[in-house]
Amino acid sequence: MKVFYVLCISVLVLIACSGGEDTSIVEQGFTRAEQQLSNQLKAVPEATEYPRTIGKDGKLKVTRKNDWTEGFYPGCLWYVYEYTNKEDWKKAAIKWTESLEPLKKMTNHHDIGFLMYCSFGNAYRLTGNEAYKDVLVESARSLCTRFNEKTGCIKSWNYRKSWNGKDEWFYPVIIDNMMNLELLYFATKVTGDSVYAKVANRHAETTAKNQFREDYSNYHVVNYDAETGEVLNQATCQGFSDNSAWARGQAWAIYGYTMAYRETHRQDFLDMAVHTADFWLNHPNLPEDGIPYWDFNAGQEDYVPDWNYDPEIFKVVPRDASAAAIVASAFLELSGYVTDGKKYSAAAAHILKSLSSPAYLAEPGTNCNFILMHSVGSIPHGEEIDVPLIYADYYYLEALMRYKNM
Ligand code: GLY
Repeated sequence: MKVFYVLCISVLVLIACSGGEDTSIVEQGFTRAEQQLSNQLKAVPEATEYPRTIGKDGKLKVTRKNDWTEGFYPGCLWYVYEYTNKEDWKKAAIKWTESLEPLKKMTNHHDIGFLMYCSFGNAYRLTGNEAYKDVLVESARSLCTRFNEKTGCIKSWNYRKSWNGKDEWFYPVIIDNMMNLELLYFATKVTGDSVYAKVANRHAETTAKNQFREDYSNYHVVNYDAETGEVLNQATCQGFSDNSAWARGQAWAIYGYTMAYRETHRQDFLDMAVHTADFWLNHPNLPEDGIPYWDFNAGQEDYVPDWNYDPEIFKVVPRDASAAAIVASAFLELSGYVTDGKKYSAAAAHILKSLSSPAYLAEPGTNCNFILMHSVGSIPHGEEIDVPLIYADYYYLEALMRYKNM
């Protein structure tokens, strides 16, 4: 009997210890975030510049309300405030959030969802300030100006050429656009006007129809004929090749359809979330540590890039921690919507553990004070290869918060 009690107590201690280990990832992540973000606030004291990455000169690179990533910096500040409850973080988060208000009128690309929902969305969630709600609704109105009834989706970018220079994209829609729909669902919830959610639903339906392959990987770009709604090209801009599975594109799809299911409870959106997630989880080229190569098919036979690819430079295929962080956050949410959710929460825990190890988590004071190392912006453009990225940090902190709250 004594042996039995000793055994029981040992098992309990082991369970408690392993639970403690999990919590320690969250605590470690936010402690590191506080260290790094305090330094970043010193490097960028005015809310006119928004940390983005490390430049080719090895110095902190910022954007100035001229890109798609400005909302992630205040978003990080909001998550640190949420975790620590310290007023200083709230003050900083408000300052960087409010500086973005003029962007509510922006209609020249689709990224207003990222810009405003990661900043003002978190601000409204954590403060309840009604003025923030109005900014978000106006931003949703701006986004809707890019919707076209004929195509049934929101135009992501304005006119540009494809990589081979032969195709012209007049109505390009990129998979990333799924992320902007959260802003639209929010606007319908707070105004009672269904117009925003209708646009979001049409966009998600059209994307499901035209942007995916049979295996539920996706084309980064689909170019439409705005007059007829016909699909003209399915291609890539940031992935390895037109037929490859760009890791962050897959991450946006998993996160986007999981969020669309949360907001609508539509089975077809949940099915998309599950299929796209399973493509990721079951992929034979997903590394052991759960952090994907920047493209699942980078350098593989039958995948022919249109850009200037030199295999000699990429003997070691770069990883993308940003895609991993987005997926960890999405998997944690998806795990609550399906009966076999454990496989997603376990995969998310595994990713978070890897990201929280010295292989990806920067030492204090290094990495230009970003939290995570080893992300990829766009290899075909020769930009942001194996660097920190502010959106990797944002989704890492979001995932840690979700993990803590589970
Ligand atoms: N939304 C642009 C990117 O994922 O790089």
